[in-house]
Amino acid sequence: MDRSDSAPKVLVTGGAGYIGSHAVLELLGAGYPVVVLDNLSNASPESLVRVAQLAGKPAPLVVGDIRDATLLRELLAREKVSAVLHFAGLKAVGESVEQPLAYYENNVGGTTTLLTCLAEAGVRRLVFSSSATVYGDPSEVPVPVDAPLAPSNPYGRTKVMIEEILGDLARSDPRWSIAILRYFNPVGAHPSGRIGEDPRGIPNNLMPYVSQVAVGRRAELAVFGGDYATTDGTGVRDYIHVLDLARGHVAALARVLEHAGAFTVNLGTGRGHSVLEIVRAFEAASGRSIPYRIVDRRPGDIAQCYADPRSAADLLGWEAALDLESMCVDAWRWQSRNPQGYSGT
Ligand code: NAD
Ligand code: WQD
Repeated sequence: MDRSDSAPKVLVTGGAGYIGSHAVLELLGAGYPVVVLDNLSNASPESLVRVAQLAGKPAPLVVGDIRDATLLRELLAREKVSAVLHFAGLKAVGESVEQPLAYYENNVGGTTTLLTCLAEAGVRRLVFSSSATVYGDPSEVPVPVDAPLAPSNPYGRTKVMIEEILGDLARSDPRWSIAILRYFNPVGAHPSGRIGEDPRGIPNNLMPYVSQVAVGRRAELAVFGGDYATTDGTGVRDYIHVLDLARGHVAALARVLEHAGAFTVNLGTGRGHSVLEIVRAFEAASGRSIPYRIVDRRPGDIAQCYADPRSAADLLGWEAALDLESMCVDAWRWQSRNPQGYSGT
């Protein structure tokens, strides 16, 4: 559906990053004009240059920080946005253990500054990037959206705190309309091979690490633990294609534009895959071998986590459509065509 003439404009914080750039492309495709605010602390502006090329529409970027109230006030006065997709934040679990204040300041402080400026400007529709990390080691799988919250690191605690702030805000003023989306493990890339995940330094997450081994940037994968109580002893996660996630955001946006109140959903496929299944699927997709070695468990890791995504189906009419093969094929297209990520351009 193209809404270009009359469609509400959407502010996308963190929109130059991995998930945000895919969401911006999906928004433009659905006819929503956008403006991105990103401080480029973990992104390249090239992602949005390519998004604009793919969409054939502008994807304007304001380089700036969600903690900068002056800049936010100016931007909101100028741009007349109707809703916000809020991706901006720091996301590395290990780093959050070493630098907790940076995480609380950036993620929680940044969000309260953003919300204050939005309230002043009368913009009360927001979609927030939460994470399955809020469940910690889940008490049951598949994880229902009302499972207990038990984050085990500062990053996860920033997500729980922000969720609570958003709940308080919605209770304080019925005009707020807020979607809290708990993503499971986002992977893959746009099928064009033009945008994708481009982590700085050594990847923390499995899929980008596997991709970099396949393309020859790294020698072998360390598989963290082979003695979990799972089918093959390696960790099981709910990997979800970033395109499915992007579609989930457009569905959530449509809902917050129409209904007041706050709601929370899991965005996952409902299926778990082990590390070794990922390795085999990526080998099949890339035609490359992925040498690996099983090493000790990574501290803080859990055996298995996968979503019960029914709340997203009920509230948003959304479910994941893309399978593990597409995730690996698309991740490989991106990695093989951009072996050094955006910095190769
Ligand atoms: P990303 O790092 O690629 O994107 C985050 C973006 O926010 C980056 O472009 C970064 O430059 C920007 N940013 C950070 N702090 C900012 C600030 N103070 N002001 C302005 N911009 C700022 O990460 P991503 O994987 O695209 O994640 C997007 C969101 O989804 C994050 O909130 C993350 O916590 C959440 N999330 C990610 C995953 C995952 O595994 N990738 C899983 C669950 C939730
Ligand atoms: C997946 C599996 C590892 C790397 C993290 C965050 C979470 C969320 C998503 C933001 C696990 C194994 C990994 C490697 C490996 N992010 N692995 N070798 O840990 O499920 O979740 O990203 O919200 O908060 O914690 O994802 O991709 O790091 O790991 O064997 O080099 O791969 O042990 O079983 P995780 P991951």
